[in-house]
Amino acid sequence: MSKRILSCMQPTNRLQLGNYLGALRNWVNLQDEAATECLYGVVDLHAITVPHDAQALRNATRETAAAYIAAGVDPKRSYIFAQSAVPAHSQLSWLFMTQTPMGWLNRMTQFKEKAGKNKEKASLGLYGYPVLMAADILVYKATHVPVGDDQKQHLELARDIAQSFNQKYCDGEEFFPLPDPVITGEATRVMSLRDGTQKMSKSAESDMTRINLTDDADVIANKFKKAKTDALPIPANDAEGAGRAEAMNLIGIYAALNDQSKEQVMNQFGGQQFSALKTALSNLAVAKLGPITARMNDLMSDPTEIDKILAAGAEKANALASPTLDDVMTRMGFWLR
Ligand code: TYM
Repeated sequence: MSKRILSCMQPTNRLQLGNYLGALRNWVNLQDEAATECLYGVVDLHAITVPHDAQALRNATRETAAAYIAAGVDPKRSYIFAQSAVPAHSQLSWLFMTQTPMGWLNRMTQFKEKAGKNKEKASLGLYGYPVLMAADILVYKATHVPVGDDQKQHLELARDIAQSFNQKYCDGEEFFPLPDPVITGEATRVMSLRDGTQKMSKSAESDMTRINLTDDADVIANKFKKAKTDALPIPANDAEGAGRAEAMNLIGIYAALNDQSKEQVMNQFGGQQFSALKTALSNLAVAKLGPITARMNDLMSDPTEIDKILAAGAEKANALASPTLDDVMTRMGFWLR
């Protein structure tokens, strides 16, 4: 059966290593599978669910598209587009909102994390965020969604919305395929370099917690050097690594960047001091990320190229999304022009 892959990132700040290892790298690999069509969106409408600056959003939307291309997403084989350029996402989102019980959204842990203590001040958009995400996926009838581990719950919601629509409006026929999450690799949940209990995030306050795709060699080396570890030697196996989140995080990052398993990395470095792993990790990260950063800088120096790619991607995406929206509207009882 042919696959349709859809995934997206928010253009909030710069992309970080977790975005790359948890998602982007897998997007690139999926392009090589036969009978696969790939759509990669820059979800700018999601980015405004938290306070934002208009000019920063414009830049970040281009920069995120540049990162996709620099990492290996090929605009000749995959469609790269901005979410706001395909109105069917928002339209379908509204239709889904009216069909989604609030109880389903109340379970979403990301809203609780992002809204923090001051839930009353969080926007309605932040609360409804997972419904727009479901629309992003279902408007293309995507079958597979490559994401990091933190998006699992949102994917489950998208499946619930799809299933409920199929039941209510399609007599149980599979109008929307139930999208499968694709969560693969040794770094599906990259943690902060300063705190192994927190996810690495582009919105965390301290820049020292993350490696950005735009960091240069010195910055990368300094961040790994200062990364939190513990007083024991590097674990040689899972048992020695139990309860040592920071140590296992560095091992996972090394494994993912070097296309190895964590076990292989522990075999190599187990028993040594962390400084050995940190030096090797800095060199590896610079070797793997350096070319991506250079290509990104190149692309950003002439945004007309990126803008052309985004325009072509949006045209294709609109052509795929519009018929789904029309079909949904007809099924829900709307008169179409
Ligand atoms: P966003 O922009 O937060 O992150 C983009 C992708 O990067 C993954 N990721 C991570 N993976 C491993 N370790 C980490 N520390 C880490 N941080 C981020 C995320 O899992 C994600 O795959 N809701 C989505 C954006 C979205 C979307 C969609 C995704 C909107 N519509 C439709 C897929 C399909 C988000 O916030 O991603």
